[in-house]
Amino acid sequence: MCKFLACIVFVQLAFQIDLVVGRSVEFVTGSCSYSPKYFKNFSLTIVENLMNMDMDLNRPIQRGFKAHFDIQLRLANAKNFQSMFNQKNDVCAVTSSVKNSLFKSWFKDMTKYSNFMYNCPVEVGHYYLRNWRMGSSMTHKFLIPGEYRGKVSFFYGKYGTKSFEEALNLTIDAILSN
Ligand SMILES: *[C@@H]1O[C@H](CO)[C@@H](O)[C@H](O)[C@H]1NC(C)=O
Ligand SMILES: *[C@@H]1O[C@H](CO)[C@@H](O)[C@H](O)[C@H]1NC(C)=O
Repeated sequence: MCKFLACIVFVQLAFQIDLVVGRSVEFVTGSCSYSPKYFKNFSLTIVENLMNMDMDLNRPIQRGFKAHFDIQLRLANAKNFQSMFNQKNDVCAVTSSVKNSLFKSWFKDMTKYSNFMYNCPVEVGHYYLRNWRMGSSMTHKFLIPGEYRGKVSFFYGKYGTKSFEEALNLTIDAILSN
């Protein structure tokens, strides 16, 4: 009986690992729009499945800078993308927070290909991300292969109030296949 259970657990584990290892993420397109109050310039490009970003800050990034991630999926033959999950993160807290979010693991990986700063305030200057690919182990939360759209908006303040101020929007389309 115990042996049988152990076998099931093993098969399940092997199956999951196989799913994760065999996956690939292909970036398709990326676009951005930004507020000139916060960025002198911002560009996002996808070249041969690698993501590049260049940004010139117009003012330091302070505490209270937030990111709203919305991950959407379009199923085969479906017309529209549907939100799968979304999450708001405090950007200045995400790197130090103990909560191991999906976005934190992406950010940590990105720092190897960039000169992104770990601590706020992030001073005025030029920041870049060069040739970043999303590793298959970074997609473990997405169980369904398909067309994905990631939308990230960066802002200060609280949505729906006078304090709300948008700084940057990113939209990235990617295909996840097994
Ligand atoms: C971000 O996108 C929203 C909705 O599409 C738009 O209203 C807003 O002006 C954009 N903000 C920036 C900073 O580009
Ligand atoms: C913005 O950056 C892009 C890419 O680095 C560059 O080609 C473009 O000239 C810059 N635009 C401005 C207004 O600085």
